[in-house]
Amino acid sequence: MRVGQRYVRDDRTLTHLCLVSRALGAESIYLEDAEKDVVGTLDAVNKTWGGDFKAVLGSSWRKVIQEAKKEGRKVVHLTMYGVPIQEAVEELRKEEKLLVVVGGPKVPGKVYHEADFNVSVTSQPHSEIAALAIVLHEIQSGEELKRTFQKSRLRILPSARGKRVVEN
Ligand SMILES: C[S@@+](CC[C@H](N)C(=O)[O-])C[C@H]1O[C@@H](n2cnc3c(N)ncnc32)[C@H](O)[C@@H]1O
Repeated sequence: MRVGQRYVRDDRTLTHLCLVSRALGAESIYLEDAEKDVVGTLDAVNKTWGGDFKAVLGSSWRKVIQEAKKEGRKVVHLTMYGVPIQEAVEELRKEEKLLVVVGGPKVPGKVYHEADFNVSVTSQPHSEIAALAIVLHEIQSGEELKRTFQKSRLRILPSARGKRVVEN
């Protein structure tokens, strides 16, 4: 989930959060505030590259956290003030279902209290996209890199040079 809104909405950041979440194995993303276009963009990406990743728009952070907890998901809030990922990761790997929360410009203090884990990726300020990518990678021990996406129209044949793409 991405908490928060900007006066000028940063749709590029939101799109990148979606693409990173999808590519690195998340089931869905919750965005408090985004253009409906984001859903269309993701549908097009799913059709071409496979999988059924979803963006859910407009739910409040409070509601998303409540529902996640009801489902037995642990809530992991990414913040530079949290416990270093390298210290938390063993415990996080034991969980089957997680809700990972990142912020926009300002994260309400209550998110820190509602989270089961407040986790940092270095204690320096940087980016929600980078923090999310590193945390998803660490929690899954790199297994997410081997994943294939079902029902894609196109598939890349990885190659050292050039682009090789086949139609399924
Ligand atoms: C650009 S930062 C803005 C943070 C804002 N100044 C605050 O204090 O909440 C946006 C988001 O990036 C993530 N983030 C930034 N640096 C981080 C770090 N070192 N570790 C984990 N997450 C980080 C957090 O989720 C944060 O809410």
